[in-house]
Amino acid sequence: MDGRGFHGESLTAYRPEPSKRGNNHRKNGGTVANTSKREESKVFTKSARYYDKLYAWKDYVAESANVRALIEEHGRSPGNRLLDVACGTGMHLAQLSKHYDASGLDLDENLLAIARTRCPDLAFHHADMRDFDLGETFDVVTCLFSSIAYIIEYDDLVSAFRAFYRHLAPGGAAIVEGFIRPEDWKPGHIHALHVDEPDLKITRMNVSQRRDPLVHMEFHYLIGTKDGVTHETELHVSRLYSDAEFQSAFEAAGFDVKLVDEGLMTSRSLFVARKPE
Ligand SMILES: C[S@@+](CC[C@H](N)C(=O)[O-])C[C@H]1O[C@@H](n2cnc3c(N)ncnc32)[C@H](O)[C@@H]1O
Repeated sequence: MDGRGFHGESLTAYRPEPSKRGNNHRKNGGTVANTSKREESKVFTKSARYYDKLYAWKDYVAESANVRALIEEHGRSPGNRLLDVACGTGMHLAQLSKHYDASGLDLDENLLAIARTRCPDLAFHHADMRDFDLGETFDVVTCLFSSIAYIIEYDDLVSAFRAFYRHLAPGGAAIVEGFIRPEDWKPGHIHALHVDEPDLKITRMNVSQRRDPLVHMEFHYLIGTKDGVTHETELHVSRLYSDAEFQSAFEAAGFDVKLVDEGLMTSRSLFVARKPE
């Protein structure tokens, strides 16, 4: 890369701050510290079983078709193997597995259980995207719906992209959907989502809190079932990465990266990063 994406757009150089936690990369996984870090990183602790209801508005079919078009355009590896990292409940995989020899990976066993039920023929891996080793390679790695923004340390972002890189065949492509850009985040915005079914009512509400470079989303759930109404809270902490930070991290991992002009969702960045052939 010479400071430009595949298609010539200029990329602003980004120099990361030195890591505050030192050079604490996990090479082999499985330490006590890693285990607790993995536990801390789980986010859908109260809402996993409602995940598909809460995101019923999301057009996974159209998004998967767009992902497929990007693979057709940018993939240079001849095979057909796809790994969806942070696959959640497997909604993209249910579509992508019609065209690819697909498998999924996620940190959250509860979400993986739903994915396994949805796609019983696929292989799923319980692992942390910051450092995983499946001992196999793929032609495509996807990481969608801003899952990457849950990686809140820049060094861990590079580490995750290195793991994606290691799991790609030469010419293979990683397709990564970023989050809201820092300049587009609206602090103090009140978000509300509703599920309204005869036997289940949910309202999820939060007010965006910005603590640069992080955002704290404390989701409050009011969940109504025939047994009564319960209130649960869940804290989701994500990082607002700039396009330049993402691009720099991809390049540090060895990728050639391109920012896609039109993302899968309004206002969210989308990158295609290719491993050299
Ligand atoms: C917003 S959900 C997106 C799930 C799915 N890709 C979708 O489109 O519905 C974020 C996902 O990231 C997963 N996740 C968060 N941190 C992770 C990590 N360090 N390693 C693997 N998965 C992680 C969560 O468990 C969750 O499934």
